[in-house]
Amino acid sequence: MAATALKNLPRRGSGAPKPMNSNPAITLQDVEVRRGGTSVLRGIDLSVPQGAITAVIGVSGSGKTTLLSVLNGGRVPEKGTVINFELGDLSASSALLQHRRQTASIYQTYALIGRLTALDNVLLGLADQLPAMLFFLPWPKRVQIRAVEALGEVGLLSKSLVRVDDLSGGERQRVAIARALIRQPRIMIADEPFASVDPGLADRFANSLRRTVEKHNMTVVIALHQMHLAMRMADYIIALAAGQIIVKAPVSEVVPADLDRIFQAEMKYASLPNPAITFPQALSGCQ
Ligand SMILES: Nc1ncnc2c1ncn2[C@@H]1O[C@H](COP(=O)(O)OP(=O)(O)OP(=O)(O)O)[C@@H](O)[C@H]1O
Ligand SMILES: [Mg+2]
Repeated sequence: MAATALKNLPRRGSGAPKPMNSNPAITLQDVEVRRGGTSVLRGIDLSVPQGAITAVIGVSGSGKTTLLSVLNGGRVPEKGTVINFELGDLSASSALLQHRRQTASIYQTYALIGRLTALDNVLLGLADQLPAMLFFLPWPKRVQIRAVEALGEVGLLSKSLVRVDDLSGGERQRVAIARALIRQPRIMIADEPFASVDPGLADRFANSLRRTVEKHNMTVVIALHQMHLAMRMADYIIALAAGQIIVKAPVSEVVPADLDRIFQAEMKYASLPNPAITFPQALSGCQ
């Protein structure tokens, strides 16, 4: 998408939004994550506003999934501090456990169990909240009703008893969304949850997510590839490039210079050599 087209995108909100650090749910200070010996996130200073939707955008490999895994407590950074505003510093294991319990995640790979039905997968969203001794008993009725409601919310009621192996990619993604919704979490971390659903459905989920955020004062962080969706559904935007934050701002305050910076990062990525093309050339250079 051209930078000029980006500037004309419809966006949420106007007027004077709250600054990003005014009411933080989670704060990262000077966070660095290393993978395979290299730094894939560095110098990350960030406040995630409570009760709002924050979109994380950036090209493939820029560090979105890694950032989300720090925010949901799945990955402890090599350097820096992660603070849950209510629970404190997550380097304390009790705070980290509690943070994980009040957070629901939708993973890029869905992480569903294929041989179980959609309904059972949604119920498993509550597995860590169930006393171990009850694990092998049938789920209580009220919990089953919650699971059915969550499947209804994503339009999959009719597939409740179908094995996930027999669902399409978009339907699996919707099961993953329902599994997060059933937790009624304080914080939801979603990694490209709309990647395999058609645009109409993505819009419907976006609206329904917004209603949930407003009703339950939920904090949502969502990695998105679609810039137009980010501008329309999110309150705040974080743009990553090569493991660093290049833009963080309320959506209504994103200025053309920010969009240019995001666009240039995308262009730089697009102009990287395609390994499929350069590999034979590299080989021929060795002859
Ligand atoms: N298991 C791993 N070992 C080593 N490096 C990894 C590993 N997983 C990811 N990386 C590297 O970390 C960087 C950030 O990856 P990450 O998955 O966070 O990117 P992303 O922005 O989510 O990309 P995408 O849009 O493709 O999902 C990339 O350079 C990636 O190659
Ligand atoms: Mg990713």
